[in-house]
Amino acid sequence: MTDKPTVYVTRRIPDAGIEKLEEDFDVHVWEEKLPPSKEHIVQKLEELEADGLLCLLSDDIDGEVMDASPNLSVISTFSVGYDHIDMDAASERNLPVGHTPGVLSETTADFAWSLLMTTARRTVEGKEYVLDGEWETWGPTLLTGPDVHHATLGVIGLGNIGAEVARRGAGFDMDVLYSDVQRNEAVEAELEDLGIDVEYVDQDELLAESDFVSLHVPLMDATHHMIGETEFKQMKDEAILINTSRGPVIDPEALDTALENDWITRAGLDVTEPEPLPADHELTRHVPEKLVVTPHIASASIQTRNKMATMAADNLAAGLNGEALPNSAHED
Ligand code: DGY
Repeated sequence: MTDKPTVYVTRRIPDAGIEKLEEDFDVHVWEEKLPPSKEHIVQKLEELEADGLLCLLSDDIDGEVMDASPNLSVISTFSVGYDHIDMDAASERNLPVGHTPGVLSETTADFAWSLLMTTARRTVEGKEYVLDGEWETWGPTLLTGPDVHHATLGVIGLGNIGAEVARRGAGFDMDVLYSDVQRNEAVEAELEDLGIDVEYVDQDELLAESDFVSLHVPLMDATHHMIGETEFKQMKDEAILINTSRGPVIDPEALDTALENDWITRAGLDVTEPEPLPADHELTRHVPEKLVVTPHIASASIQTRNKMATMAADNLAAGLNGEALPNSAHED
């Protein structure tokens, strides 16, 4: 036992974060590959009488977890999204919650673009084609896909990540349409300075006009299954849908139907419902011809994950020192 405040960390995060915490706190880390169950987190917080909890987006943090230790004074998540945390329950308990906005925006945008490029230009199919021994000659129509340059990019949600995705469209001479709960004239001006023709439109118009649709909204009641059968039918048959936000923003059954019936051409998903997506899930039958799926790695650059670790540690430390969190989810 030490007299340092005790913190429980629900998975091993990059050393930069753990080392920072170890300077001042008694740190206990769940070392397994798979996340601890909610019951385990409750039991551990209780047993340690933990002062702080550093969690991941794969943990379900509700009032029961928050009440497990009488000393719990701060929660910090190693993610920008906090849909896995019951924020109302945290507010009721005056529990500060920290998260990691900003640092992952460009990294996530890079990855959204890698999904966009790979779905458009069929690189995953190309890899299978080579490994299956089918590459016998150069073919005039072999694995053709739509041009990315000069296409129309539709960004749903022009927040930090959406804006970075749009900005990258400048390199490909794209026009950008975006929809959001409100117009963002500051970002529009920046995009125009880059030479992008950008327009704020309603979602119906965006879906009808875009060649690529990229989703950048947080998961909440209003965005749950916001892309369903109606929306797929609004999209161009040639459209490609990219999701690096949260899986349940897309209705998976509707996506299955849309791919099956060629209502859209392809989709690239880094996030799924359910998540993880089981290998035998019905959606995987569309891989790789119509679907590319990656395991929620859009923010997984070495630099960004290190920054997320120190940011999560800084939020936790601030809470334990009774200071305002540098990045509070309550003030988002
Ligand atoms: C987050 O931080 O919310 C991201 O989804 C992780 O990639």
